[in-house]
Amino acid sequence: MQTPIIRSMMAISLSFILFSAAALAEKPFGTPAAVNYSQALWSVLQSEKMTGPNSIRSVPYKGQAPHGKILETTYQKITVNGHTGQVIVKKNYGGQDITRSRVVNNPKKYLKAITVMFKREAGYDPDNKDWFWVKYKPDGSLHKNPKGMLLAGRVAKGMPQGCIACHRGASGGDYLFNNSASQLDR
Ligand code: HEC
Repeated sequence: MQTPIIRSMMAISLSFILFSAAALAEKPFGTPAAVNYSQALWSVLQSEKMTGPNSIRSVPYKGQAPHGKILETTYQKITVNGHTGQVIVKKNYGGQDITRSRVVNNPKKYLKAITVMFKREAGYDPDNKDWFWVKYKPDGSLHKNPKGMLLAGRVAKGMPQGCIACHRGASGGDYLFNNSASQLDR
């Protein structure tokens, strides 16, 4: 027989569990699942030579905030955990004395971050064209926002600043500034 006290304690712990589950489900980025996914994505980027010391080089160009002063962007289709989608990898270079030729000659010295958009499976984030957003350090670990949240996943869904809020303003409705997604699929 359950006493009323035990019953109410059970009710309290059940509502706590439900509340925690809802809080976890709502967090749009920086979750353990997003971090794991960013690691799977990173290892594909390494094996495709889109990142890492032996990565394929492209011509660096002048960038703008919040990305680096000099940028290098590459595109490709890749497969991560069985899903094939378009990936766009942007290397962000910065430093006091930076020039394009210095970046060409010594990329490692100037590389600050690698920002990536990967088109995930339909339904991942239908509000935002199913993009997975991530900001890596050169070694593949993750940058954090000022609140200490790891930048991987739906960054920063529902917030007034961040990848999604800014990229939403790109023309064409596909969150891309340089190209349109339909062109990439050709
Ligand atoms: C305040 C605006 C802003 C924020 C915030 C921002 N971006 Fe961008 N992003 C841009 C602009 C502008 C470009 C085009 C820059 C260029 O290559 O000349 C761009 C380009 C890119 C590209 C190349 C594809 C494209 O759109 O042309 C990727 C990938 C990218 N950003 C990823 C990210 C990620 C990941 C984040 C968050 C960690 C982020 N961006 C945050 C403005 C922003």
